[in-house]
Amino acid sequence: MPPRLSRCVFLFMDLAIIGSGYVGLVTGACFADVGHNVICVDNDLQKIEALQAGKVPIYEPGLEEVIHRNVSAHRLRFTSSIREGVEKAQIIFIAVPTPQQPNGDVDLRFL
Ligand SMILES: NC(=O)c1ccc[n+]([C@@H]2O[C@H](COP(=O)([O-])OP(=O)(O)OC[C@H]3O[C@@H](n4cnc5c(N)ncnc54)[C@H](O)[C@@H]3O)[C@@H](O)[C@H]2O)c1
Repeated sequence: MPPRLSRCVFLFMDLAIIGSGYVGLVTGACFADVGHNVICVDNDLQKIEALQAGKVPIYEPGLEEVIHRNVSAHRLRFTSSIREGVEKAQIIFIAVPTPQQPNGDVDLRFL
């Protein structure tokens, strides 16, 4: 039997996404769109400045609209400061590159 609606609890959280590329930016935008407060962090200052200026550096269908909607609603913001990103976060997602090295090992230096 499905759970009764009256027992459902909708909990919105403060989330931080470290790495605002294809995975991080889309993840952050979608979490914000369902109601969470999201801060997306990146160490690429140009990327963060572009996002703060309303420019979306990657193309994913519908992403720009989702980002603009949630920035306007103050649920989504961007920073190059890890400290600012994580200080209030209840959950931190890491979405930085993990490329494969020539010997097959994972390159974890971005972490
Ligand atoms: N893109 C995909 O389809 C896909 C699928 C599965 C898994 N992944 C994994 O997800 C992770 C992210 O992939 P992606 O495609 O989003 O990469 P991406 O290169 O598009 O984005 C990574 C972002 O992380 C930023 N970054 C790097 N080091 C950082 C640091 N120390 N602090 C803050 N920001 C930092 C980069 O500037 C970049 O904007 C990788 O580990 C990748 O293997 C990606």
